[in-house]
Amino acid sequence: MLLRKLFRAVFVFSFFTLCRADIVMDEECLNYTVYPVNYELNIYPYVYAERSYFDCDLTITIIANAPNVIVIDLDARDLEIEGGSIKVLDGNRDIVNGARPFEFDNFTSKLHIYLKEPLKVYSGSNKQFYHVKIMYRKYVKTDNTGVFLVKYYDEQNKGFKYLFATRLSPNKAKYFLPCFDNPRFEAVFKFKVYILKRLSDLQYTNTSLVIAEEQRRDNFKTEYVVVEYVPSPQVGLHQVGFHYSRFASLSGKAENTNDTFTVWAPIDELRDFNFIHNYGLKIINLIHEYAQSDRRLLQGSINVVAVPSVINGYEIGSFNLLTIGAHKIVSIDQFTSIKQTEAMMFDLAQQLSRIWLGNPAESERTRWKEEWFKEGMATYLAYYFLTQYNHGLPTEHNRPISSYGLQMKHKAMAIDWHRSTPALDTFNTSLAIEIPSRYRELVMMKTGAILWMLENWVQSSKFHQALVNYIKSRRGKYISLEDFTTNLDRKTIECLHQFFNGSTASRILGSWFRRRGYPVINVQVLRDRTPNAVLLKQRQFSFTHENRDDSDYLIPISYVIQHHQNCYNCYRPRFTIGAQTYTFSENLNDGWILLNRNASGYYRVNYDADTWRIIAKTLKENIGSIHEMNRAQIVNDVFALYVAGDLDFQLATEILDYLDLERSPVVWDSVISGFDLLTIEGAGCGMTKHVYWEWENFMMKKVSTIFQQLVQSKDSQVLTRLFRSAVVQLSCALGGDACAAHVRRLHVEHRRGRHALFPDCRLAYYFVLANETFSSTYSRKLNAIEQDDKTIADRKIRDKNRFMAKIPIGEPRPMPIVMSTTTIKPSEAVPEKLVPGSASATVYSVSVLFIIILINTFIR
Ligand SMILES: *[C@@H]1O[C@H](CO)[C@@H](O)[C@H](O)[C@H]1NC(C)=O
Ligand SMILES: *[C@@H]1O[C@H](CO)[C@@H](O)[C@H](O)[C@H]1NC(C)=O
Ligand SMILES: *[C@@H]1O[C@H](CO)[C@@H](O)[C@H](O)[C@H]1NC(C)=O
Ligand SMILES: *[C@@H]1O[C@H](CO)[C@@H](O)[C@H](O)[C@H]1NC(C)=O
Ligand SMILES: *[C@@H]1O[C@H](CO)[C@@H](O)[C@H](O)[C@H]1NC(C)=O
Ligand SMILES: *[C@@H]1O[C@H](CO)[C@@H](O)[C@H](O)[C@H]1NC(C)=O
Ligand SMILES: *[C@@H]1O[C@H](CO)[C@@H](O)[C@H](O)[C@H]1NC(C)=O
Ligand SMILES: *[C@@H]1O[C@H](CO)[C@@H](O)[C@H](O)[C@H]1NC(C)=O
Repeated sequence: MLLRKLFRAVFVFSFFTLCRADIVMDEECLNYTVYPVNYELNIYPYVYAERSYFDCDLTITIIANAPNVIVIDLDARDLEIEGGSIKVLDGNRDIVNGARPFEFDNFTSKLHIYLKEPLKVYSGSNKQFYHVKIMYRKYVKTDNTGVFLVKYYDEQNKGFKYLFATRLSPNKAKYFLPCFDNPRFEAVFKFKVYILKRLSDLQYTNTSLVIAEEQRRDNFKTEYVVVEYVPSPQVGLHQVGFHYSRFASLSGKAENTNDTFTVWAPIDELRDFNFIHNYGLKIINLIHEYAQSDRRLLQGSINVVAVPSVINGYEIGSFNLLTIGAHKIVSIDQFTSIKQTEAMMFDLAQQLSRIWLGNPAESERTRWKEEWFKEGMATYLAYYFLTQYNHGLPTEHNRPISSYGLQMKHKAMAIDWHRSTPALDTFNTSLAIEIPSRYRELVMMKTGAILWMLENWVQSSKFHQALVNYIKSRRGKYISLEDFTTNLDRKTIECLHQFFNGSTASRILGSWFRRRGYPVINVQVLRDRTPNAVLLKQRQFSFTHENRDDSDYLIPISYVIQHHQNCYNCYRPRFTIGAQTYTFSENLNDGWILLNRNASGYYRVNYDADTWRIIAKTLKENIGSIHEMNRAQIVNDVFALYVAGDLDFQLATEILDYLDLERSPVVWDSVISGFDLLTIEGAGCGMTKHVYWEWENFMMKKVSTIFQQLVQSKDSQVLTRLFRSAVVQLSCALGGDACAAHVRRLHVEHRRGRHALFPDCRLAYYFVLANETFSSTYSRKLNAIEQDDKTIADRKIRDKNRFMAKIPIGEPRPMPIVMSTTTIKPSEAVPEKLVPGSASATVYSVSVLFIIILINTFIR
């Protein structure tokens, strides 16, 4: 039975994994002379309070890929290998060199096993296997990497308990077992765990999870239990896992399929994981609904293990044994903030999307040639499923991801501008785990944002239908970017032809994937002729003075104009622009034009000063006439353009001056991520301390209305809570006294046991506390959920302080000239009360604002 499985594995192996021949360059493979086919682990765990360890009896089945191999090199680290146990068996014959059996090089972490005769090369006609046998002991400590001990307080027993957990990705498998540590080698893993039942001092431990389903469980009297698992699917070492604890579980089944979703935690804490459990099942159901099929995500159960330790995020490659820090998925009203809930929902939706897009345990394995593309797709889909989930509220079918789309885009844009930022396709040959962590967010968010842009070009329903059909048609095969775009061209050819003047989706997408960064389009309207002429010119966007060359992205343009009559291009993207200046006629009748309709274009737009002023005027006078997605786009662009030095303070604040009227969470989200850009180092605006303070004062005034409104409201709907949390955090970070007082009050209530939404503003509270040398909050140990916020707050404060220390003090800005022509009655100098009604009111309130800013500056 086992043998048959093994042979099947080898068969698949030679087709798929001999270095994934059609993917990886051949040179890379040739170096490896020995390949692992099968790992068999017999694990004997011993959990003691003092000294925990496991013994392992390991057999690796290998084949030789080159002649004259007389040394086998294994990776091993911090393992106590029993020298006498090392054998390399050809059938029953041990071929280890008796005189010099092995050597362990502690420096390179390599175990060299010397043979007395060369290995015979594996071939179709001579199926020669060898078995490498090794016994070793691993002491498992709390500060280990790879495999580690976790100590936690168990409520049920009122005492400390221990568990073993593994996190082998990206390359830590050698701490767990001697292995061929190459993420491209895939092998079958067969586990057997020997659980001792009673031994003095030994912790009673009954739960053992690995990356395969349990096959049988044999009780040997009262002494021990042997749990045997079915052979795993073919996986890389980074996808292997082993969990050993006394956890209990919460399990449920998806609606239309046999997919099961199980959460593991200490029995007394299980109820705190109800939320994530129900949510996970909901997302699995949504995936099945989206895929329009009952195909199981994978064979076996999806296990999520809440490890009571600081582990942030899932392992990218994990599919049926997902470990994550308990604090990242636990849901306790008294402690969990709405933002933390949002983050845990995103993380799980993303991981389940990865699993759906292709995993080792699905019935026909789907592989992605470019794993960065899979990562981006999983991110896009995570936001899509989150949108459809809609916090558990009923929603219309295929709801657009709007606000999440903007979030993705702004996250990507904030990092994707530096000269050294790589283009997405530089990761063509990297496995997902090999993408450096500093670029992971970029890869996920930028790819996701570009898919969102694509969705808007080809229309949402067409996009999703094409996507689902494509993924389904490639089950059991390879998915590649090229194949995907070619397919898309075929599916959407008529509409693309019409809109993009012959450019295909693949050509347009290629221009975004092959280049780093993104463009800014400069729009100039020549209003002195009829019809007006609109000039569009693009260049590379950069926050610094360098790296601003002309660019030639293929940008599908869509726009809206203030006065809608005869608007030819308004409703669909109609043409792309490349390197040349693009000119077209459109009668604006003294109104504005806005590019990047739906805000999904991965670019920024800068208008001429007149157009900006007309936009600013409309924002103040008739805010509703510009869609909130466009307003969100505008405010983020204004901050970015200001920071880059492309827009001056006066014009930037003139446009943003309407913000005290702004009530939209999406727009404020955009403002907050825009405001964060002000602390980009070395930016073109030449930031000084004085200017930064001016911005802080400006923002403080703009945020005060919405702040008051939100903190007075008792509304506890999810969206309001998210909005309130974001606005309170901004206000407190700006140093507002009202905000400080508010969060302190909530903190007192929280300590009295009336937690009334304190967790939502806990992060803001930590900003407020940052300046205090002593606080009762810190006199007790924060729990992991609170610590999560504290860590974020500390990092933000540190970053800002470092930035402030670096920039020069500068001068207070001179009085704007507009001041001298305007007289101001002091009684009216309160921005919130100004009701803008005419063009002069705009100028008027701006000048009022400057006075306030100046007064504030002098007071400092
Ligand atoms: C393969 O071997 C060659 C020569 O021994 C070496 O230069 C190269 O770096 C190796 N490649 C890999 C991927 O290990
Ligand atoms: C092996 O090397 C590690 C660090 O590289 C060191 O901590 C350890 O003590 C060494 N072990 C032996 C037996 O020399
Ligand atoms: C293991 O033991 C714990 C504590 O007695 C119990 O709550 C849990 O359900 C057990 N788990 C399994 C898988 O039997
Ligand atoms: C679920 O499993 C049961 C029993 O193994 C089987 O009869 C049923 O067809 C499965 N359902 C689906 C949708 O695969
Ligand atoms: C990455 O793959 C795409 C699609 O196959 C190809 O067009 C592009 O040239 C590749 N880029 C690099 C840097 O290898
Ligand atoms: C469309 O394509 C034609 C020929 O390739 C070109 O002359 C024309 O300028 C293009 N028009 C637009 C709007 O890009
Ligand atoms: C784009 O925005 C318009 C309104 O401005 C809306 O009707 C349309 O559905 C949006 N498209 C998408 C794909 O969100
Ligand atoms: C902390 O103190 C510094 C200088 O003493 C001040 O500039 C800053 O605004 C304060 N921060 C907060 C959040 O109160």
